[in-house]
Amino acid sequence: LSFLILGAVVAPLQAIASQQLYLDGERLPQEFIYGCATSAYQIEGAWNVDGKLPSIWDQFVHDNATNDITYGATGDVADDFYHLYTQDLPLFRKALGVGTYDFTIAWTRIMPAGRGTAQPERRGCLISARCIIGTYRNHYKTSTAGKFQYARIIFSAYNRAGSWLSPNVVDDFRAYARAVFQALGNDCSHWVTMNEPRTFCTEGFGSAPDNAPGVVGTYKDQYTCMHHALLAHAAAVDEFRQGGYKGQIGIKVDGGVSLPLDPSSPADVAAAARAMDFEVGWDAAPLYTGDYPPAVIASGAPPANFTPEQKKLLKGSVDFIGLDFYTSQWVTPTQNCTPSSDTFPECTDTFQQNPNTLIDIGRPTASDWNFDAPHATIYGGIKYFAEHYNATNILISETGMGVVNETNFPLAQVLEDVDRIAWYRGVMKAMKQALDEGLPLVGFIPWSCIDNFEWTDGYNVRFGLINVAYNASGQGSQKRNPKLSGAYLRGVLTQGNPIN
Ligand code: NOJ
Repeated sequence: LSFLILGAVVAPLQAIASQQLYLDGERLPQEFIYGCATSAYQIEGAWNVDGKLPSIWDQFVHDNATNDITYGATGDVADDFYHLYTQDLPLFRKALGVGTYDFTIAWTRIMPAGRGTAQPERRGCLISARCIIGTYRNHYKTSTAGKFQYARIIFSAYNRAGSWLSPNVVDDFRAYARAVFQALGNDCSHWVTMNEPRTFCTEGFGSAPDNAPGVVGTYKDQYTCMHHALLAHAAAVDEFRQGGYKGQIGIKVDGGVSLPLDPSSPADVAAAARAMDFEVGWDAAPLYTGDYPPAVIASGAPPANFTPEQKKLLKGSVDFIGLDFYTSQWVTPTQNCTPSSDTFPECTDTFQQNPNTLIDIGRPTASDWNFDAPHATIYGGIKYFAEHYNATNILISETGMGVVNETNFPLAQVLEDVDRIAWYRGVMKAMKQALDEGLPLVGFIPWSCIDNFEWTDGYNVRFGLINVAYNASGQGSQKRNPKLSGAYLRGVLTQGNPIN
């Protein structure tokens, strides 16, 4: 099969009619996006087939000496989506009602060696993107039940070991982006260059790294990684815009919302603003202003100043912003903080949860996460970006609730996840308030369509709206069972059910 033959099969998805969506019984704008998210490494499995070489995550999970993954789980098989996607995509559509599917194109399937301008690997490209898009089309072009609005593709940042510390990664990433755009540039309405650079930089290069590449580093390394990630993002956007492709391009950022512990305390207010600058503005500000926030620059943490050319590429480099916001935190300045090589410059503040707003989930939730009132996180996040950066197209590109040991409960209880519904109910209310106030919220993409490999938590933490029958090590029948939370979202967003 060649690119050309497949190119004829895959028609632009914008041509497919979009579905009518609702929130609390009221119609949402026709362009509003409702999708669900996954990522290549977390669901595909098939880690070494069709020309794919090991990514830094493959290397990390296979190195038990350095990783600390729960029950030694790996993504070698994961949900076996690589082989099951023709069943899974229709299931996502049917069980969740989604019209959008958010997935990543694994770098090591497209460019197995992770760099160079050699011909992209066609077999990997086929499975990661083209067949998925083709599947939407073939399944839904005659369906009366509704059609996929479009697919959204995110580049996976997981290249080869250590490369984010090298400036070469910027050109390598540009070559990868170019290969993908050349193959699929007009086939998706929304492109995301990168998923949560803050997470892969801080957790991949921390003093006790728990993400690939698992390189023990200092905060300086984390800032170097981010510097290169931002430049790589800007390079990919430049490729996209120079190529004149249709559609919008953006990025997904994480970090959550920081609020003053005591809103009447100027010190707490300043600490919350500082936390937002260091946690969110670190990667978001350059997209809007062309540079890091002044406080970040003043800290001396970034490895270099952006050149005028780099600033020009960065400023305005998003048509939309994706917020992967799950939690919020209340901040107060710390007394006697000693900056360490790992935590500087953020250790000047103490982060806490506000006990008055925590949701009583009733089951243990993901690792050390506190699932706080979605209002602070979701409404607060949208409002912050609208007010602080004048952001125009804001997408809730991830939020969700992770439950520890979910599979230790009887299946019926796992599937009747009323606590997850309680969480999403709060998310729906927060989105409604944002829209009622005229804030520029353009879509909602919960994490995740389906249970999957939750990085260092392996299969022990489940975010899925659809359950997968495997145990906490990832062993099992792979049978899929939709959870009630998925039906709740489908009802509210596609059938006009009330939020409550
Ligand atoms: C953000 C990440 O994009 C995704 O990979 C992860 O599984 C979820 N959050 C939940 O932790």
